[in-house]
Amino acid sequence: MMEHTQQHRHFLDLGDAGTDAIAAMIADALDRKAARADWPKGQADTDAPLAGRVLALVFEKNSTRTRVSFDIAMRQLGGTVLILEAGSSQLGRGESIADTARVLSRMVDAIMLRTDDHAKIEEMAKHASVPVINGLTDRSHPCQIVADLLTVIEHRKALPGLEVAWFGDGNNVLHSVLEAAGLMKFNVRVATPEGFEPDPGFVEMARSCGSVITMGNNASEAAAGADVLVTDTWISMGQDDADEKRAAMAPYQVNAELMAKAKPDAVFLHCLPAHVGEEVSQDVFEGPQSVVFDEAENRIHAQKSVLLWSFGLL
Ligand code: CP
Ligand code: NVA
Repeated sequence: MMEHTQQHRHFLDLGDAGTDAIAAMIADALDRKAARADWPKGQADTDAPLAGRVLALVFEKNSTRTRVSFDIAMRQLGGTVLILEAGSSQLGRGESIADTARVLSRMVDAIMLRTDDHAKIEEMAKHASVPVINGLTDRSHPCQIVADLLTVIEHRKALPGLEVAWFGDGNNVLHSVLEAAGLMKFNVRVATPEGFEPDPGFVEMARSCGSVITMGNNASEAAAGADVLVTDTWISMGQDDADEKRAAMAPYQVNAELMAKAKPDAVFLHCLPAHVGEEVSQDVFEGPQSVVFDEAENRIHAQKSVLLWSFGLL
């Protein structure tokens, strides 16, 4: 039986892992994905490195990809999951994060939390004695971006020097794109309406690492010569669905006209769920440059690496 180390690491943001660990995660994900190409999806990898381990998936917001991909990732690593929804657990009745963290730490081997306020996941990590993984907060979505980097590399685009263009809302997903840019040495052109810019802290973080981050309000300029075009919903979970916001976002739709300004081999990414006809046109979403379903599948492969790193096994 495999000797398990006591080491555990929280993955609240990409910087918790850092450049070398993210590179190692991507390399391991590529290897594991290739090694099991046509296997049944629930079959464990040959080494089953997390055999006996249990991951709690705690949700204070809806999810399809994060929930299913963590479940399948754990099965493939030889472990299991259990799911707690805020609405059907004591968390939803006001039990504190601190107590929840301490109880879960006695019962499971790792915790993934999807929540609103980022301070809640910091509180969970502070009180947990097992790894805590960020499955999305209002501030960031680091697991998504490990999958996105994997997807870009699979489509034969090296990360250093890559020109990534973001369109629309300056949200949690963009924050993690910016953090990744600094760590993995790529550049980001951000095109948002005025008033919907990302947190300047993430922009400064990326710039301080040497990445070129261009902030602007012109979608065409951001798209010109880009390698990767990315967008996300205009209205994130927990945000007001305001007509004024939709109107402000309209010029930032990723459509065929915008794609035509990018490099001919540029790819289109979207973390999903998509609102086709809003942030992305039907022809781009369904078109040959769209790699969104590779990206969704890669949530499994990327998160296997995140889990292994969190357990000190990568
Ligand atoms: N992209 C993503 O995190 O999807 P879910 O909200 O379905 O988990
Ligand atoms: N920005 C979106 C991402 C969903 C996966 C949200 O927070 O709702």
